[in-house]
Amino acid sequence: MTTAHAAEPALPVSAPASPFDWNPFAQSFYNDPQPAYRRLRDEAPVYYNEKQNFYALSRHADVAEALKDTATFSSTRGIELHSIQEGQVAHAGIIQMDPPEQTRMRLLVSRAFQPRVIQGLEPEVVAVIEHYAGGLGQEFDAVADFSALFPMEIISRMVGIPAEKRDWMRHGIDYILGRDNSPAMTDDQMRVAIELSTYYYTLAVERRNNPGDDMISMLIEAEVLREDGTKTALDDIEITTFISLLGGAGAETVTKLIGNAVVLFGRHPDQWQLLQERPELIPNAVEEVLRYDPPATYTARCLAREYTGHGVTIPAGAAALLLIGAATRDERAYEDPERFDIRREPQMNLAFGFGAHRCLGAALARIEGRVALERLLRHMPRFEVDESGLRRVNMTNVLGYSNVPVRVLP
Ligand code: HEM
Repeated sequence: MTTAHAAEPALPVSAPASPFDWNPFAQSFYNDPQPAYRRLRDEAPVYYNEKQNFYALSRHADVAEALKDTATFSSTRGIELHSIQEGQVAHAGIIQMDPPEQTRMRLLVSRAFQPRVIQGLEPEVVAVIEHYAGGLGQEFDAVADFSALFPMEIISRMVGIPAEKRDWMRHGIDYILGRDNSPAMTDDQMRVAIELSTYYYTLAVERRNNPGDDMISMLIEAEVLREDGTKTALDDIEITTFISLLGGAGAETVTKLIGNAVVLFGRHPDQWQLLQERPELIPNAVEEVLRYDPPATYTARCLAREYTGHGVTIPAGAAALLLIGAATRDERAYEDPERFDIRREPQMNLAFGFGAHRCLGAALARIEGRVALERLLRHMPRFEVDESGLRRVNMTNVLGYSNVPVRVLP
């Protein structure tokens, strides 16, 4: 694998197209990404899609290396295919930055994710999940009635969003992440995204005058010392951009994690039984669900300089998808990767990313995953999923279900 500096950021030149057509916005991909992911790993580990003009890396070692190599695989045009191709990033947030800007931002926002803060949230996480699980009957939808609801409630409480705004925020975020056969946002989605950001901004201004014990107030107070001895803090626009990121990054993903878990355990009742008998395996089970069906199925980068791998050169300026969901099923990295096994020794798991941008909310997501599984184990010692009622979301970057109908068995 080699990388080389390009003299000037060049416009991508076309490489020979890879031998098959793969559309990451097609219904067949949303329904089951794995057949395509296998072909990509085996036949075109550096894949080029001529029609949609993007590249894709799928093997575990390549995806991990690319995630770490921020000098080549840049986030400055965002992490979605359309933002890279259109070259538009309004108000760059942490996820659209490279080090060293990203390092400063990360130091500041990390204050709100310190282990002490996250552990302190656990009683609230338990209370919120108990509340939603308490309303579940013998037949319910594990996503629509449960996992679509509690993560946003947890994030909104953590951030300090007033109760009456939380449903509006959740629907808005769902709406702006939806994609139908094309990577771009519609004008109406853009309008809703602006409405949400404007709301977060007014909240940040309000908290500056009226601090509370929420994340916005913590972010307002956060300061770090620069190398030159001066201090730096976040302004209201930076706080707004960060809060806008959390809805998608921190709620949609956990929603998908639990939906995927219920489908997987429905298909592997022996593993659910094992979890009943050995609840100490729950944290392991969360890792295995994340590996087997990672909610963040890919992220995207813009090439800051040329990259060559497996005989294919990606030019500077091109867009590349880093296929996390393909990497975590790579038999070059995992023994028998198609086997869903909660006893598997956890090993390097790319589900939360890797390197500079590795997930800031991983500890919180793991707590939410563990508590939700504990609660579901109690509610449904045995269950079946009505597979005919499964519905997938059509989103960019994230894979999972919008509906998982479940029946508790006697
Ligand atoms: C199962 C749940 C989750 C999954 C699978 C997940 C996955 C990821 C991944 C793959 C990245 C890296 C993206 C990239 O490199 O382009 C990331 C970054 C991030 N995640 Fe998560 N995430 C989850 C939950 C959360 C939660 C609960 C929060 C916050 C409360 C959160 C906040 C963030 C933030 C702020 C970043 C950006 C970090 C940076 O750019 O330095 N995530 N996440």
